[in-house]
Amino acid sequence: MRKVIIAGNWKMFKTQSETIEFLQGFLPQLDTTPDDRDIVLCAPFTDLGTLSRNLHGSRIQIGAQNVHWAESGAFTGEISTAMLVELSVRYVIIGHSERRQFFGETDETVNQRLKAAQKAGLIPILCVGESKQQRDAGETESVIFQQLEKGLVGIDQQNLVIAYEPIWAIGTGDTCASDEANRVIGLIRKQLSNPNITIQYGGSVKPDNIDEIMMQPEIDGALVGGASLNPQDFAKLVNYGKI
Ligand code: 13P
Repeated sequence: MRKVIIAGNWKMFKTQSETIEFLQGFLPQLDTTPDDRDIVLCAPFTDLGTLSRNLHGSRIQIGAQNVHWAESGAFTGEISTAMLVELSVRYVIIGHSERRQFFGETDETVNQRLKAAQKAGLIPILCVGESKQQRDAGETESVIFQQLEKGLVGIDQQNLVIAYEPIWAIGTGDTCASDEANRVIGLIRKQLSNPNITIQYGGSVKPDNIDEIMMQPEIDGALVGGASLNPQDFAKLVNYGKI
């Protein structure tokens, strides 16, 4: 059985006090959440301590949104694996399209970050996905296969999660049709040496489309931006399929 993971990516949202407010609204809604799914919150670095202090004994696991490949050094503005591990971080998003687009992340730097994360015992969530222009040009598969091929050199596919996030579906309300997301995720799975890893879909996942997305046989979870910021909405997402 592949592990199902519903993860929130808070991006650059929420101060520490807003994080506490979120938990007060969210935690009580997990009492009857089925055990068949893991719940992860990938928060800004400044919120990770707040999460680790307030989530003892909870089933929520903590994720970060990036990590540097060096153990330490003169890398102003970066964060090391040891800094994350000390804060009980378990997962780390790597290669999100916003980092590739706005911060010069390449498949090579993605690969270095993945290696460092795994070496430290963190589970990376590698993001892949095509732009609208690439999709319209019929390049979806080739773009994603290249991201996988270069990103996964030397990577242990036992301790890895992949998120398929078509860039045109991120923050636009324009969700990729669930059967199309299922098709692409099936193709991604065929490229892997371990076809049993968790592959999530991300891009405008909301309470009103989560059930349809999670019914798709290849999709093992969701990586959620906007709808993870609201405790009621995110609770509906992690409680998907519950009657
Ligand atoms: P939205 O859910 O806001 O579209 O963001 C998706 C995303 O980028 C998650 O990493």
